[in-house]
Amino acid sequence: MTTPISRRACLHAVQALTLVDVTAAEALLHASPPSEKGEDWWRSAVIYQIYPRSFADANGDGIGDLRGVTERLSHLVDLGVDAVWLSPFYASPQRDGGYDVSDYRQVDPLFGTLDDADTLINEAHRVGLRVIADIVPNHTSSEHAWFKSALASDAHSPDRERYMFRDGEGAHGELPPNNWLSVFGGPAWTRVNEPDGRQGQWYLHLFDPSQPDLNWDNEEVRAEFDDVLRFWMDRGVDGLRVDVAHGLIKAQGLPDYVPHADGGSMGGDEESATPYWGQEGVHEVWRRWRSVLAAYGADRILVAEAWIHPLKRMAKWVRPDEMHQAFNFTFLECPWDAKALHSVIEESLTEFGAVGAPSTWVMSNHDVVRHASRLAVFGENPQGHGIGPKSAHKPDRIVGLQRARALTLLMLGLPGSSYIYQGEELGLPEHVELPDDARQDPTWLRTDGERYGRDGCRVPLPWTASEPAFGFSRTGRTWLPQPREWAELARDVQEGKEGSTLQMYTSALAHRRTYGLGSGTLEWVDLGADVIAFDNAGVRIIANLSAVVVPIEGQVIASSAPVHSVIPPSTTVWVTL
Ligand code: BGC
Repeated sequence: MTTPISRRACLHAVQALTLVDVTAAEALLHASPPSEKGEDWWRSAVIYQIYPRSFADANGDGIGDLRGVTERLSHLVDLGVDAVWLSPFYASPQRDGGYDVSDYRQVDPLFGTLDDADTLINEAHRVGLRVIADIVPNHTSSEHAWFKSALASDAHSPDRERYMFRDGEGAHGELPPNNWLSVFGGPAWTRVNEPDGRQGQWYLHLFDPSQPDLNWDNEEVRAEFDDVLRFWMDRGVDGLRVDVAHGLIKAQGLPDYVPHADGGSMGGDEESATPYWGQEGVHEVWRRWRSVLAAYGADRILVAEAWIHPLKRMAKWVRPDEMHQAFNFTFLECPWDAKALHSVIEESLTEFGAVGAPSTWVMSNHDVVRHASRLAVFGENPQGHGIGPKSAHKPDRIVGLQRARALTLLMLGLPGSSYIYQGEELGLPEHVELPDDARQDPTWLRTDGERYGRDGCRVPLPWTASEPAFGFSRTGRTWLPQPREWAELARDVQEGKEGSTLQMYTSALAHRRTYGLGSGTLEWVDLGADVIAFDNAGVRIIANLSAVVVPIEGQVIASSAPVHSVIPPSTTVWVTL
């Protein structure tokens, strides 16, 4: 990393600049790293998720790549984020967008080379951004050398012991070992042909059949991942986002799942209710990983992707000797409702605080309907089902964007660490009209189109309104089609434009850093029903979710919609008193 400038020194320098010299002030703020020396950077960082397939395509094949990311890092510096998290770019047959890894130490040629990864990491550090990579330990790809040799070996051989192979039930082993379902639909077991050609054992895959689950009770598996962690730490990454961090350990004896409300989803709602989510044994793995990272100093972090409720239980993933952060999916799933939001914020700060961890905040990622759409779907839309042309409940675009902007300012005003998913800073909605024949998500394929899945939030970004593929790829190719209306949301159209969503994010992030909101303390303020208001580090954040206007006192420094003397409904403002 570049040498840190303390935030206080930076703040003084900014205050010394005249008010009109905003550009110079922002440039100075952006050049600084996220936190003061001695303070853990990740406790208050704003982390930008890059889904490499859809960020920027440098070689023109229609799929984003690492060079594309490196070339555009300056835009993220201008935006004012502290770090980037990159979804997987490793060798993979791409059956699940790269979450099916065939070699954890190689870059997939689609995305570039190991040299490109090194260049990206170094360049990010040079411009003051930290880099979080993604690690997928629950399963490998079926193209991984280990799985190929498991298939070529006999039942009960050591090669099979690295995965979850079991004999089937029934007189001839013709029934799966238990009733578990895949998150993507259909059974979680697939039967294999043995080397002699006969039908034989079954293997477990909580996701696609091309993603066989590893056996985390096997020391060889644990040792291999220690080594993979070191491989990426040695290359300089600042942290790892851990995929399916609630799934590695399965209940002893693999008992049948007794169905309850969460069906075959990713949820682990009840203590030990689901025999494959949130088992106690996962914590031992995280303690081991924490000590692997600790050898690299205190600045390298682990971030859990674990769909665990309630937050009190989730907080177990971030106890002092486990991970540093966990995605706050309770916040992500919270409806547009003042009481519910107030309570999830309070609960998050309390529960994560109780174990000494910061809360994280997140509204969108590559697995969920973009929040600019999700917040304006008036009807049932279970997580993972997506939205498509024939969905019963389509989002209202105007309401969606207005709420998304208001929720963004609420989120960025909170103490803790916030995640931004690429494109939300442009106000991108879900692509709900994506044609069926373009869809690639295994959820869509495995449910025969019953669930649309996640392609609608993964559409390549619009950079420039007037270029082919809106500047995503110079050849005009895109692996998923972009909606025509995205021309008006392209980055170049919004840059420097008063009132644009991009401008709102940029200015909010600059203020967040100036006032130190990420490392502040929240104090609730009562401004009436359906209004969420709190003070943090000298800034009052007021989100009006009511149907009536709310009076403003103080100096407005940021707002999600035009405000004059009052705050309109579905609007958030930041004021200094
Ligand atoms: C990732 C998904 C992926 C799944 C299986 C997740 O939670 O975020 O995109 O499909 O893990 O690896």
